[in-house]
Amino acid sequence: MSGNTKLKNGLQAFLDERFNISSLLQIADKKKVPIHKHAVWYYMGGIATMYLAVQFITGILLMIYYVPEISSAHASILKINSKIDFGWFIRSLHSWGANLLIAILFAHLFSTFFMKAYRRPREFTWLTGLLLMVICMAFGFSGYLLPWDDVSFFATKIGLDIAAKTPLIGETVANMLRGGEHIGQATISRFFAIHVIVLPAALLALLGVHLLLVQLHGMSAPGSFNDLPEAKKTYEKFFPDFFYKDILVWILAANVLFALVMLNPWGIGPEADPFAPAPVGIKPEWYFLSMFQFLKLIPPMVGPIEGELFGMVLMGLAALGFVILPFVDNGKSKAWSRFATIFGLLILTGMILLSIWGALS
Ligand code: HEM
Repeated sequence: MSGNTKLKNGLQAFLDERFNISSLLQIADKKKVPIHKHAVWYYMGGIATMYLAVQFITGILLMIYYVPEISSAHASILKINSKIDFGWFIRSLHSWGANLLIAILFAHLFSTFFMKAYRRPREFTWLTGLLLMVICMAFGFSGYLLPWDDVSFFATKIGLDIAAKTPLIGETVANMLRGGEHIGQATISRFFAIHVIVLPAALLALLGVHLLLVQLHGMSAPGSFNDLPEAKKTYEKFFPDFFYKDILVWILAANVLFALVMLNPWGIGPEADPFAPAPVGIKPEWYFLSMFQFLKLIPPMVGPIEGELFGMVLMGLAALGFVILPFVDNGKSKAWSRFATIFGLLILTGMILLSIWGALS
């Protein structure tokens, strides 16, 4: 036996005794991925995981120099952008990374939706996914205020004013987030704590469950694959075949991020002045734009109900549709299956059109 093999066997025995590595390797060895024409969508969750890792690393580095104080927040970002070595690079990775992460999550959400991956037994993979989406959007909302520039200030103000319209709890929640009636030091302190502690902790816990469920149930396959006779169904091994392709896709996705960072480093506007009038045409981030535009479409009063409230109830019902769909479209009824696909198509088309309209108007 060569020295190398001896060392390898010794290391394997050492790890096996302590961590039961061989049973983990057996699980990895059994994991397989269906091969079909929609298989490209299987890469989305992996890309999201990679971008998430970028967010954690760059976020920790930004915390070293960012100051969550109303008098220093803006200046600390200016310092990161212009004085700290590679500060602009780390900040741009974080800001562009957040946008790419959310874009990939939309692709992941709708691809798993249209492949009906939410069906039994994956209902809770889907529901933990929905919560992860909400958490990532909350990351975006809370992080947007932290640079304390004029756009971030007024976009947050509009967002909180809309949130305050939520029936029953809206006003209380908006006041708790603001730390009073106006956006100020209390708001930055709260948003900072939420952004760097509360959301990361919730995200890691939920992601743990999400990924555990994915391992437990294996990859789902679309109907066109499931309907094939057993002999015609082809699979590839997750390890190493799919895993190597995963790494290749991560490198490509990382290059998209680097290209955006190098070609268009993230800037910063003038410092927020709470007493100045809101800049004209202020808009939220693109991922909130469809909701914002939808609310603008609704007349001030719909019968006896205030328009914004009416719009929020409609959006709440649509969100509820995504929550309960796995339990009604369980694969047994063709009618529900068709209904789910049409529902998803309507929401997706509506979101795209409203976002384009919002961006152009
Ligand atoms: C931080 C956010 C998220 C991360 C890091 C993540 C990660 C992953 C990964 C790595 C997989 C396995 C590979 C794949 O199918 O792409 C997966 C599967 C899945 N994810 Fe997510 N995900 C996230 C959010 C979501 C969201 C927003 C949804 C939808 C509401 C979702 C629903 C699902 C479903 C249903 C599967 C199972 C797919 C199948 O079996 O074919 N995930 N996720």
